Amino acid sequence: GKDGYRHFMEKELHEHPLVIGQTLQRMIDPATRRVVMPDLPFDLAAIPRITMTACGSAFYAGLIGRYWLEAEARIPVDGDVASELRYREPPLAKDGLALLISQSGETADTLAALRSLRQAGQHVMSVLNVSESTMARESDVVLDTVAGPEICVASTKAFTAQLSVLACLAIAFGRARGSMNESREEELVQALLDLPGRAAELFALQPAIQQAAAMVADARDVLYLGRGSQFPVALEGALKLKEISYIHAEAYAAGEMKHGPIALIDRNVPIVASVPSGRLFEKTASNLQEARARGGRLLCFTDQAGASRLGPLAEQVIALPDVHDFVAPILHSIAVQMLAYEVALLKGTDVDQPRNLAKSVTVE
Ligand code: F6R
Repeated sequence: GKDGYRHFMEKELHEHPLVIGQTLQRMIDPATRRVVMPDLPFDLAAIPRITMTACGSAFYAGLIGRYWLEAEARIPVDGDVASELRYREPPLAKDGLALLISQSGETADTLAALRSLRQAGQHVMSVLNVSESTMARESDVVLDTVAGPEICVASTKAFTAQLSVLACLAIAFGRARGSMNESREEELVQALLDLPGRAAELFALQPAIQQAAAMVADARDVLYLGRGSQFPVALEGALKLKEISYIHAEAYAAGEMKHGPIALIDRNVPIVASVPSGRLFEKTASNLQEARARGGRLLCFTDQAGASRLGPLAEQVIALPDVHDFVAPILHSIAVQMLAYEVALLKGTDVDQPRNLAKSVTVE
């Protein structure tokens, strides 16, 4: 049942801290505090290149994973949604790794992509929430997300579980490839282990998010912005809003806005920005300044340090608990999911069963 929550989505949002913790427990040895991988039928250090594919939210998780794998492990990652990748005929590296991500393990496009990548000689690694799924049976290695059953059609907790696995994978690759030293690994593992606690603190922000939702609920169109690993967070936020509130939302890399979408901006198109203080803060803030100057109304998810700097610019500023830059996209993705939920409540939509959607898409 819903355990007293109004919807499965609300219940599943509250399971984020637990699910992140359980998933990390699978991948981080508590004694050594090092990432442990299952037995692999290939050598991580010998993988020249990764081809990542998935659909919907799972793909966005993979995009965040790509930032981590490239930055921390210095391994090239190509990625595309499965429905495109399977027909794209990309040249693949010999002995490359196919990285598939799926909650259900049954999504038709992802499964077809898996089969064609296997056919093309790639090693197959899948990040899956259902260990008896078709994709599990057809993979060389399965990394489990320990999210438990997800009932709400829109994915929430499976997403942060996927991110937890992908963060650990980036660390494992970084070590295997010699691109990450031990102190960096310790630092990132600590950041991950701190995350369930920080994620639990997020729910104290529910009243603020509820208030901010009013800014979005009356809009016809909403723009989501982020840079770097926060760009896929914007994609996730926009997708979740579309799915459960039926409000049109689009996500852009913040720096891309001036190349077109800025033409849309006026006071009727609220902008949701995911902008933690960190390396890309100033750049993103200056993009937001440009939007503000054109009458754009801003709702910013940031942290304590970011809040004081964005305050004058934004109509609503929500400071998330302070976390290491590396894991910030995990916390921010929960925040944009919570926002979508609050907007859907205001709209009175069928949150758990949005129109036209099915939990598992087993047709092409
Ligand atoms: C978004 C959502 C979908 C799924 C996508 C992939 O909220 O639920 O976009 O993420 O259909 O499904 P799986 O992960 O089962 O392959």
